[in-house]
Amino acid sequence: GKGEYDHFMLKEIHEQPTSLAQAIEGRIDPEFGDLSLEGFPYGAFGDVDSVQLIACGTSYHAALYGTFALRKAGVHATALLANEYSVSAPPITEDTLVIAVTQSGETADTLSALRQANAGGARTVTVTNVVGSTAAREADDALFIRAGPEIGVAATKTFSSQAVMLTLLAQRISQDLRGRGSTDLASLLPELARMPAAIGSVLEHSRAEAIAERYDGSQSYFFIGRGLGYPVALEGALKFKEITYEHAEGFASGELKHGPLALVTPDTPVFAVFTGEEDEKTLKNAEEAQTRGAPVIAVCPDGHAATEVADAHLEIPETDPSLAGLLSNVQLQLVSYHAADLLDRPIDKPRNLAKSVTVE
Ligand code: F6R
Repeated sequence: GKGEYDHFMLKEIHEQPTSLAQAIEGRIDPEFGDLSLEGFPYGAFGDVDSVQLIACGTSYHAALYGTFALRKAGVHATALLANEYSVSAPPITEDTLVIAVTQSGETADTLSALRQANAGGARTVTVTNVVGSTAAREADDALFIRAGPEIGVAATKTFSSQAVMLTLLAQRISQDLRGRGSTDLASLLPELARMPAAIGSVLEHSRAEAIAERYDGSQSYFFIGRGLGYPVALEGALKFKEITYEHAEGFASGELKHGPLALVTPDTPVFAVFTGEEDEKTLKNAEEAQTRGAPVIAVCPDGHAATEVADAHLEIPETDPSLAGLLSNVQLQLVSYHAADLLDRPIDKPRNLAKSVTVE
């Protein structure tokens, strides 16, 4: 049941310290900077020459997140919408690794792309929440995110677990392709081990409800981010539109000036995600919106330069740039939740949507 919470979505948002701890349990050794992914020992990916991640919706945003981690590690990687794969798949060979990212393991679009990859001779892996799902059965290998059942139609806890599992998988692939010294595991893993507590702190101190109230009734809601903040901005906007039915869009910060700025008015709050990478550019992009009257809500640590400029602040604890977006995402999940709650939307079952989309 929902326990003390009014909605499954809120319960599942609050489960993230636990679900993330489950995802990394036994898989990381922060002290020795080591990771062990069942089924994927050192050398498991020695033959891989490029990686394609296929997914839809929130899982696609997690896939994008994973792509950045792979590229940072020097691995050729692309995130692709599974529903576009049949018409636009890049070439695959037996050395292509195709990773199907799917919470349910039953999404028709993703299964169809997975089957295409299998038929083309690629090596396939699924990152999924559901043991025994179709994706888990049909991919060559499966890595489970162990998030526990997610009842709310809007994916929340599974996004953070997917992003973390893909980050870990990226590190293993990088170790195999670029050598064990190629990764930053020694600094990453201790930060990762602290993530459940960091998310707990966000949940405890979040001012998302006040922010949702303050900007309730706006015409449109924009979310911007750069690097790993970009998938988080996309996810923030998807969540917002799904459960509030209000218009929301996510942009790469630097794209704002290439068109979307035309939409910006005092009635379009801009949530700016700062990850610690090129934040000064993102801040400049946010200020361009602010100059047109838009309120800017900075999602960043306390004391960050953006807090001097922004109209409002959603605080996240300091962490590694590769993980900061996950903390920002929790803040944005809470903003969407409270905005939808104010509008009295059926948060766990938004209109026109299903938890698992089994048609193409
Ligand atoms: C958004 C949402 C959907 C799913 C998408 C893929 O909150 O839940 O966008 O992420 O339908 O579903 P899975 O991950 O089950 O393949």
